[in-house]
Amino acid sequence: MDLIIKNGTVVTASDTFVADIGVLNGRISAIADAIEADSRTKIIDAAGRLVMPGGVDVHTHLDTPGLLADTEDDFLSGTIAAAHGGTTSIINFCPQIKGSGLLESLAEHRRRADPKAVIDFALHSIVSDPSERTLAELSSLPGEGVTSFKVFMAYKGDTMVDDGTLIRVLDEAQANGALVMVHAENGEAVEFLRDRFAGEGKLSPRYHALSRPPRVEAEATARAIALAELASASIYIVHVSCGEALEEVIRGKRRGVDVHAETCAHYLHITDAVFDTPGFEGGKYVFTPPPRGSHQPKLIWDALARGDLEVVSSDHAPYNFVGGKDIGRDDFRQIPNGAPGIEERMTLVWQGVANGQLSPNRFVDLVATTPAKIFGLYPCKGTIAVGSDADLVIWNPDITRRLTRDDLHSAVDYTMFEGMEVLGAPETVISRGDVIVQGGAFTGATGRGRYIHRGTVSTSRPARQETQRS
Ligand code: URP
Ligand code: ZN
Ligand code: ZN
Repeated sequence: MDLIIKNGTVVTASDTFVADIGVLNGRISAIADAIEADSRTKIIDAAGRLVMPGGVDVHTHLDTPGLLADTEDDFLSGTIAAAHGGTTSIINFCPQIKGSGLLESLAEHRRRADPKAVIDFALHSIVSDPSERTLAELSSLPGEGVTSFKVFMAYKGDTMVDDGTLIRVLDEAQANGALVMVHAENGEAVEFLRDRFAGEGKLSPRYHALSRPPRVEAEATARAIALAELASASIYIVHVSCGEALEEVIRGKRRGVDVHAETCAHYLHITDAVFDTPGFEGGKYVFTPPPRGSHQPKLIWDALARGDLEVVSSDHAPYNFVGGKDIGRDDFRQIPNGAPGIEERMTLVWQGVANGQLSPNRFVDLVATTPAKIFGLYPCKGTIAVGSDADLVIWNPDITRRLTRDDLHSAVDYTMFEGMEVLGAPETVISRGDVIVQGGAFTGATGRGRYIHRGTVSTSRPARQETQRS
């Protein structure tokens, strides 16, 4: 054995038991009551700690150029931050470069990521220029290990696509064993409301939220699911933020559509009360969909516990406050949409375990196992089993701390959770058998992360219907 983690309480999505875990050549090679070490074996004593699969964050925006600003983290700072938070795999969104094809954009993103990533990563392709050439390329993406395509129903004039494009992408994905991820907001309605507020001189960050109310999200969610149903395709709704959109997800599931849905850690803790703070503080919380009313987080927690929401991602889209967010100090439409959270994600979800809303097993399922299953990473990633990659987090459930920017590792200049007291923390993080975080220090190497060539996705895709029942 290269490494043995001794005496820890192993937590998977289904089981909890005390055992030793043996690691050989980057993989888990034994799980047993007591594993013998030899002279060269490194031993980590995990007594009193939980040993869980490393987190899988399937929604990150590292090294992404934007209309208003570029995201602050590249694959080095972003994956170091992820690792400190207990995450050992990410799936980053590869933007379609204007005027370029999807394969060319993918190659460029790999050029940026490969020399820097410190944890393993995969990519989703964003389809924002739906030319015939682009749509023809979709069938080549699975051959590159990219088995998920993302489309935006919002951000008019930038990445938004129309319904015709969406259903064609759904159809191509269905034919090629891929999954379509949808940012579901009615972009036309958002544009109308933004213009109306701007015309009335209502330009503070609060109007970002008011121009994207829950119905904007719910309408697009219902439409996206209906289009998936018509194309007999699977669909994954990203960043569900409110009960209204959740209802549409549940309705779709009930009538047999293969719909999966995630929320993000910030919707569990942040509400629109942030826009009551004086000055431009609210600018830090301009993410999309926006912070919701105070009754909404409970609806989201309950849906996570029930299983109607299956994944919690970070939607890490880090823009500096100074020189980024504050470009829109006088007009919310100029504030880059997005917020950091890649390092905070697992701790924020763990608070649901700390206060009894989730079991530790459900926590593992939401932050590691189900995302790995949905996106074709399982069982290499997302679980603790013989043969799986030794991607592990040793978690101290008893420690209390305050989140603060100075202790975090993203390059961005703030955290939305400044001063929040939390229970639980990742202490040691292991990626393919390498200890990459220990005692608060990063101990890995730049560029050690590997690109994950994903297989086709494991969803229960319905057979294509010749006719739809009326
Ligand atoms: O505000 C957000 N979420 N920014 C990142 C892009 C997206 O919509 O996911
Ligand atoms: Zn989005
Ligand atoms: Zn996003």
